[in-house]
Amino acid sequence: MLHLKLKTDPRWVNIVESNIEEILTDHAWCEQKAATNAITIITLNSEYPELVTELLALAKEELEHFEMVQEIIKKRGFSLGRERKDSYVNELYKFMNKGGSRLHAMVDRLLFSAMIEARSCERFKLLSKEINDPELSKFYNDLMISEAGHYTTFITFARKYGKEIDVDKRWKELVEFEGELIKSYGKHETIHG
Ligand SMILES: [Fe+2]
Ligand SMILES: [Fe+2]
Repeated sequence: MLHLKLKTDPRWVNIVESNIEEILTDHAWCEQKAATNAITIITLNSEYPELVTELLALAKEELEHFEMVQEIIKKRGFSLGRERKDSYVNELYKFMNKGGSRLHAMVDRLLFSAMIEARSCERFKLLSKEINDPELSKFYNDLMISEAGHYTTFITFARKYGKEIDVDKRWKELVEFEGELIKSYGKHETIHG
């Protein structure tokens, strides 16, 4: 369903397992960034009531995810570290066309968001299957389902509002771009690392 170009090497899970506190901190901030991104899309595109309604619901879900991760961090006696930068997301951001029309910018931002959901979903699926930790395995399985729904929300809005743009072509370009980018990842104990 997600049509990603490259699957994550399962050995990435071993790196994650070596530092659960770090992956949880990074993950918590990923959820914060996902909520913030949804609010930003609303702020920039407030004339679309359906988009505003659905992304408000999505932002709330991302905040709930943030809360769930923070609960696990507390329960395990870990601490939520400072915000982690997400170099994968920062690199992916460069794909977006900054100089075009507002509509192009919105479609690109929706596709960028869909891609992050797709890759997160792929990572969560791998974690749920491979991690040697029953609580986290269940947790990541639940999140995978939720993030797959977000992927669908973003890509559906891109297609709905971007009728005058070749959205499928743009998506294919992004899949190629991400496929190259992800080759240098899979080496760190972060969600997109
Ligand atoms: Fe989330
Ligand atoms: Fe999400």
